[in-house]
Amino acid sequence: MKRVITYGTFDLLHYGHVSILQRAKALGDYLVVVLSTDEFNFNMKSKVCYFNYEKRKQLLEAIRYVDLVVPEYAWEQKVDDIQLYKIDVFVMGDDWRGKFDFLNKYCDVVYLERTPEISTTQIKESLATNKESSC
Ligand code: CTP
Repeated sequence: MKRVITYGTFDLLHYGHVSILQRAKALGDYLVVVLSTDEFNFNMKSKVCYFNYEKRKQLLEAIRYVDLVVPEYAWEQKVDDIQLYKIDVFVMGDDWRGKFDFLNKYCDVVYLERTPEISTTQIKESLATNKESSC
């Protein structure tokens, strides 16, 4: 069985998230999503989530491509995760291209193209300014 892992916040789940999860799963048979906790988002990514960790986890678990959701507490946990979950492929969106090449000695590292014109930040900004969606 080929095992794939990916990381993210996945707040206000949108079709860009679903697309990367679908393409990540297609690289193997089992997909682990490591979901940033609220504390990690706040302290390390300067992000305040609209949905808390438990709600974001519940939404991800309802997606057919996702097999397991576990918490992300620290930038440094990736090697441990790869070993713990016996991962073959590490996947990130191409906004992170090159940043995780050092994981190549543990598994394949794949950067998938981001879906254009959608992000959690863009949804929040658009709602804050009452702009119509162009999606
Ligand atoms: N992602 C994607 N296409 C998008 C938005 C996100 O492929 N349009 C991917 C990211 O590259 C990442 C994963 O989805 O691998 C989770 O990204 P996350 O940062 O949680 O989503 P964003 O919508 O980019 O959120 P933000 O605006 O807060 O950064």
